[in-house]
Amino acid sequence: MKDKIAGILEEVKGFSAENLDQLEAFRIKYLSKKGIVTGLFTEFKNVAPEQRKEMGQLMNRLKNTVQDKIVSLKEGLDKSQDKINKHDLTLPAEAPLGSRHPLAIVRNDIIDIFSRIGFNVSEGPEIEDDFHNFSALNFPANHPARDMQDTFFINKNPDIALRTHTSSVQVRVMENSQPPIRTISPGRVFRNEAISARAHCIFHQVEGLYVDTNVSFADLKQTLFYFAKELFGEDTKTRFRPSYFPFTEPSAEMDISCNICGGKGCNICKYSGWVEILGCGMVDPNVLDLCGIDSEKYTGFAFGMGVERIAMLKYQINDLRLFFENDVRFINQFKSTI
Ligand code: PHE
Repeated sequence: MKDKIAGILEEVKGFSAENLDQLEAFRIKYLSKKGIVTGLFTEFKNVAPEQRKEMGQLMNRLKNTVQDKIVSLKEGLDKSQDKINKHDLTLPAEAPLGSRHPLAIVRNDIIDIFSRIGFNVSEGPEIEDDFHNFSALNFPANHPARDMQDTFFINKNPDIALRTHTSSVQVRVMENSQPPIRTISPGRVFRNEAISARAHCIFHQVEGLYVDTNVSFADLKQTLFYFAKELFGEDTKTRFRPSYFPFTEPSAEMDISCNICGGKGCNICKYSGWVEILGCGMVDPNVLDLCGIDSEKYTGFAFGMGVERIAMLKYQINDLRLFFENDVRFINQFKSTI
């Protein structure tokens, strides 16, 4: 028994704890009801009477050593905890700063450019009814133009869908205010398309609307020309090609001179020297009337662009899926203060 006690004493002396949990486990191991030291005291009754005095002293020493050990280890742990708490919390963080997502950078650039010429920002719901996404925009029921934008309906309800464009927000603005209206609607839109390098079922748009007296196609061209130069540089040229949208008449698509090859021809512009960046047109008078604006008195223009497409051109990114994967090796390359 003497040897046993000596062995335990050595073990106790050599013990050290890294945290309070380990220390508590140590206490339980030796001092709890079923602990080692307590066990020795139970065994004491078997000790021969002539050895009792010596054994008693040894056991008491062991018990005191365990208790002292617990007190001193606890003190040490408390002190190191204090040290951690005393760190200067006002020091600048050492962690690297985050950066904005490229889509957010481009969206903010677009908003910035249009707000400089008096456009405000409007937002609306991502879940829309048929009226705001289609009917008010001159898409008659069962008209093939609805197939231009493959739609996600909610619970197979033909009246409720994820918006396919943010033109729906402009309908809401026209319903709720009177000209002059100058607004852009940035936001997320949804179309039932297969995901590929050039398309995704979720993407972002910025659409714009200008309604006032005497708004003409010349205003549309000048506004978008200004926008293209601001975003892609002073030397950017624009051209308009006739197109079709149910809500604008006449309608056009705007190309810019390829910002990669400067118009000479490369694989990005498919050797044409031009890349398409947006759809636009004069707001169809039907749309104005459907939204409660007098089409005899007012005219307007509208445009809409995909933020992913603009970002791909601006940063020469050839796969749209990169925007959604959030791989830090990709997004760390975009540093911006905006
Ligand atoms: N809403 C159209 C689309 O999503 C874009 C557009 C907006 C075209 C305004 C013309 C005028 O494709």
